[in-house]
Amino acid sequence: MKLLHIDSSILGNDSVSRTLSAEIVARQVALHPSIEVTYRDLASEIAEHLSIGHVAVRHGAAVEEPGLLGDIKKGDEYLDELFDADIVVVGAPMYNFSVSSQLKIWIDRIVVSGRTFKYSDTGDIQTLLPTSKKIFIASTRGSAYSAGSPYAALEHHESYLKGVFAFLGQHDVTVIRAEGLAFGPEAKNAAIAQARGEIASISA
Ligand SMILES: Cc1cc2nc3c(=O)[nH]c(=O)nc-3n(C[C@H](O)[C@H](O)[C@H](O)COP(=O)(O)O)c2cc1C
Repeated sequence: MKLLHIDSSILGNDSVSRTLSAEIVARQVALHPSIEVTYRDLASEIAEHLSIGHVAVRHGAAVEEPGLLGDIKKGDEYLDELFDADIVVVGAPMYNFSVSSQLKIWIDRIVVSGRTFKYSDTGDIQTLLPTSKKIFIASTRGSAYSAGSPYAALEHHESYLKGVFAFLGQHDVTVIRAEGLAFGPEAKNAAIAQARGEIASISA
């Protein structure tokens, strides 16, 4: 069994999503002691933004830019790790109403026509990724975006991530959320404690 652990917070040791994603991974290791964990810290080492060079090479052009080949290889490694994983744990902070730009770069490398999905002649989407994966998202945000919140319309974070995974045929998605983290120490501690309770009750 294999687990892919992704972190994308820029806040280092102060990051709440890093704490929660590590605790989700620890819970999975406790449940499946022989599980093999691959870790990607996207804030410390990340592929480049997609460029016209990447697209050209994917369409058969020769590699001309120095470094491009290595970067394309890194993107291929992201894809291999995703294909191999039975469980994917994503640490996903909300920055400016969506995922971090680091996580977006990873998404740009895994949502790839002809690799993870394809369109049929009638416009339907077919996933090319095994659909049996379990996805856990450690979602953290300073404010609150649940239904009824005045900011609910700015929620392009969990809904976006769930949409991306659904597009790739992944519907077994569990969100462990700590929100309202900017509402003072008491609210922050309560949100983290609630998320920890949810992690402790993960049973598979
Ligand atoms: C650059 C930046 C942008 C942020 N943007 C938002 C935002 O749009 N909405 C929000 O609710 N919180 C926002 N926050 C607060 C973070 O979501 C909060 O600090 C959360 O803990 C981040 O997860 P992390 O601790 O794992 O980095 C932002 C924080 C930073 C550093």
